Amino acid sequence: RRVLFVTSEMADYIKAGGLGDVAASLPRALRGRSDVRVLIPGYDDVIARAPDLRLVGRVPARAGIPACDIGEATLADGLPVLVLVCPELYQRGGSPYVDGAGQDWSDNAVRFAALSRAAAVIACGSAGLGWQPELLHLNDWPCALAAAYLRWYGSDVPALLTIHNLAYQGLFPVELAEALGVSPEQAESILFHGRLSFLQAGIVHADQVNTVSVSYARQITGPEQGCGLDVLLSGHAASGRLSGIVNGIDNSWDPRTDLHLTEHFDLHRWEGRVANKRRVQRALGLPHGDGPLFAVVSRLVHQKGLDLSCAVAHQIAAAGGQLAIIGDGDPRIAAEVATLSRRFPSSVGVFAGFDEALARKMFAGADFLLMPSRFEPCGLSQMYAQRFGCLPIAHATGGLIDTIEDGVTGLLFDSADADSLRRCVQRAFRTYRLPSLLSAMRRAAMLRPSSWEQAGSHYLNLYDRAMEQRA
Ligand code: ADP
Ligand code: GLC
Repeated sequence: RRVLFVTSEMADYIKAGGLGDVAASLPRALRGRSDVRVLIPGYDDVIARAPDLRLVGRVPARAGIPACDIGEATLADGLPVLVLVCPELYQRGGSPYVDGAGQDWSDNAVRFAALSRAAAVIACGSAGLGWQPELLHLNDWPCALAAAYLRWYGSDVPALLTIHNLAYQGLFPVELAEALGVSPEQAESILFHGRLSFLQAGIVHADQVNTVSVSYARQITGPEQGCGLDVLLSGHAASGRLSGIVNGIDNSWDPRTDLHLTEHFDLHRWEGRVANKRRVQRALGLPHGDGPLFAVVSRLVHQKGLDLSCAVAHQIAAAGGQLAIIGDGDPRIAAEVATLSRRFPSSVGVFAGFDEALARKMFAGADFLLMPSRFEPCGLSQMYAQRFGCLPIAHATGGLIDTIEDGVTGLLFDSADADSLRRCVQRAFRTYRLPSLLSAMRRAAMLRPSSWEQAGSHYLNLYDRAMEQRA
């Protein structure tokens, strides 16, 4: 199968969250079993890391969307990447979605309509590439409009939309329709409460829709987690067009070999892990202590329940534990977290920012990971933590239900409030004081199978299903 995997981030170049990891791993898991190429916007970080970029095609301008070139690069392991080159849209620093001050780029509608349109034009065979995918695999709102463009351009190439997070929908004023090359009649099917919804466009027009865990796929068909799209999604579920495939994690997350760690370890060589704990304590300005070290590695957004983690800081400090937080995002949450570390200087350490190496050291050094997410489509951090022998303490929602077995590979609590988390933290302290239980749980967590192999096979089946439906 020839598949174009379309994404707005990829960990090889630039990563804002879990989608970046998935986009780096899943296409690789499918290689050998299909001809997958990745399409990504040519941000500065992409252009800088693709010195071998050759221009191989072009997407003509349409309405307010400027013409873009398509470059081809090959990653070190041979994975082919198509780069959408358009300096005025993509080469401006910041993150894929927001500027240096954390505000959405004001022209995000055009930036991501251009990505979506490029995917559709490539699928139509009109970009001059000499390669045409048999299926588009779209990820989240930034490229979801591609499914609609495909249909409007009269193509019958099938599309799969993977929803990594239903809460981000790409909503824009309806007045922009014309600039995006969308006629008033076409706009009808993608209107969400009077605004254009890129994500809805994908859900309506893709042949198959999936999300990144089985539990989240079920939860989004109800009003509580459906973000206003639950009726549409439950219709899809009823007609066999909505499913869930839990993410995997790639082999770079291995405590025996991780290149970001100075001390390696495994179940039989635990000294390295103890050294990592010291290293994290030092990096975050915490004194050396023997109590449990709790970590938070997270985007600072409402979803992740940072307020709940902050609410248990006092409890952790009073019981002789420590809390290490690394996070980037909402400045108000960042300020709250910073205040906490000033209040408990010897028990709460904070690093504000995004730092992959430090994040990995935290998984490798902390005893527990706090993940009181209000909702969680899949979550990768808990699986990284497990692989590194750090037990996740998580709200039983979405992918956290599917990847954590309570009392075996982590601890789950039922409701996203401070009291439930507090009780779970008490359980963690009790577990920490029972060495045989603690090491049995660490062992179970580290050995939990979470490779991409199995998820890859599920995706191949889903590709087949989408192709059969179109045929
Ligand atoms: P989400 O995609 O919702 O942020 P995931 O758990 O799926 O949640 O993925 C988050 C990814 O981003 C993980 O790889 C995690 O380690 C990483 N991450 C989150 N915050 C930071 C940070 N401040 N520094 C480094 N890595 C981070
Ligand atoms: C999203 C979700 C997260 C998921 C990730 C990768 O960012 O919030 O739960 O793990 O995408 O699929």
